[in-house]
Amino acid sequence: MERGRFITLEGGEGAGKSTQVRRLASSLRGRGLEVVTTREPGGSPGAEEIRTLLVTGDAGRWSPVTETLLHFAARRDHLERTVWPALERGAWVISDRFADSTLAYQGYGLGLDKEVIVRLYANVVGNFYPDLTLILDLPAGAGLARAKARSAADRYEDMDISFHRRLCEGFLDIAAHDPRRCAIIDAAGTEDFVAAEILDLVGRRLPVPGS
Ligand code: TMP
Repeated sequence: MERGRFITLEGGEGAGKSTQVRRLASSLRGRGLEVVTTREPGGSPGAEEIRTLLVTGDAGRWSPVTETLLHFAARRDHLERTVWPALERGAWVISDRFADSTLAYQGYGLGLDKEVIVRLYANVVGNFYPDLTLILDLPAGAGLARAKARSAADRYEDMDISFHRRLCEGFLDIAAHDPRRCAIIDAAGTEDFVAAEILDLVGRRLPVPGS
């Protein structure tokens, strides 16, 4: 059995990732693939419990280092229990956020030394990377407005606009440094337009077996 593929969707608040994860999954299922959709922080029972610690409470509840350790603890459990077993059995896994979010939010956003995050990644995740990362790009102000209209603000949405601008810039920087793995998608278009663009990109970068 050929190993599955691991696709991650990244971006700031309100960029439409969750909707696009669902749409991409449904398109790939239509081509006969087994697809697992998941998210970070979360995606396994233990990681979902850690998620509650991360997204609720005051904006300043955790120091940047503590927060980063919690994200990596959740990530390790998510990988062990959900992502790696699914890939092993040949499923394609689509995750709403992964480690680029730590670099963007805790590194570019909160100012934690990026080397600390890179070293944690090497120790906790090891030599494992997404096959493709789609970065949904939307100006921070527009994304926050969308996110706040949708639901009560979580801990990160409560952080100031300059934090959100830094992390949006961070995602673009990450894509510029790793163009083989990452692609930037303009998330300002309609849901249908963005979904079509994503499907086209996935088809070009990761040909579906048998198609
Ligand atoms: P969500 O709103 O996309 O579900 O994600 C929950 C929040 O967690 C979101 O505001 C981004 C944040 N986050 C980080 O700060 N670092 C991380 O490593 C991850 C995965 C998410």
